[in-house]
Amino acid sequence: MSTTVEQMKPIPVTLGGARGGPDQRTLRRDRWWANPSTTFVFLTAFVVYTTWAVFQNAYYYVGGAAHRDLISPFYSPCLTASCVPGAHGGLVITWWMISPAILTLGGPLSFRFTCYYYRKAYYRSFWQSPPGCGVADGHARYTGETRFPLILQNIHRYTWFIALIFNVILTIDAIMAFRLPGDGGIGVSIGTIVLVLNALLLWVYSLSCHWCRHLCGGNVNRFSEHPIRHRLWKLLSPLNHYHMQFAWVSLTWVALADVYVRLVASGWILDHKLF
Ligand code: FES
Repeated sequence: MSTTVEQMKPIPVTLGGARGGPDQRTLRRDRWWANPSTTFVFLTAFVVYTTWAVFQNAYYYVGGAAHRDLISPFYSPCLTASCVPGAHGGLVITWWMISPAILTLGGPLSFRFTCYYYRKAYYRSFWQSPPGCGVADGHARYTGETRFPLILQNIHRYTWFIALIFNVILTIDAIMAFRLPGDGGIGVSIGTIVLVLNALLLWVYSLSCHWCRHLCGGNVNRFSEHPIRHRLWKLLSPLNHYHMQFAWVSLTWVALADVYVRLVASGWILDHKLF
């Protein structure tokens, strides 16, 4: 038998006080904390792993010696003079003395960090502002994104263009992964599939971006006067619906791609050729 409102234990609420009343953070009885807690654990794990991988500054490229052409997405494009032979992405910066990945990751991380979805996720899980709908803030004051430093989140629309440049570079890396250095042939290995999927997921994540959808269909009074923008908007809107999912899958896969290249480059596993 289902419980009626009359049978439930009444919870005193102070109007105008903290959400949930003075003694209670929330009236919610579901497991509202599960989502922000999972996000907290997952993002912390990603940050810890990425920091370690970036500062390791080794095992990010598999070259001719292993008969493969695979580079970790964390280190591509590799722009400094200290990059291992074969990993260079054209431009060579000589004055940069620490890990080249620090230089590389600035672009993609600024895009992820300012993403509308991730903002919601880490405001809830790390900042507790608020941790969930109908749950009191972890802070006494709320100033939103109208002041420094959070006003900088508005650069998201510009970082989207930076992300596209990285998508092109990582797509070239994925195409190069078909190359078999040494005999000049082409082939498909597990590493090829890993890098192709990585590039594909990054494209889908970028194209499902809210800003991208706005770029196509925003500020338009009559779609009938902008048929191409209307078509693009209709094409991207279903992708946008799954932006959260693409955000998580692409983030996970980019880390797994780094793990895979690292394991092959350090000799822990072989990159098996499929055909
Ligand atoms: S809103 Fe998430 S990438 Fe733009």
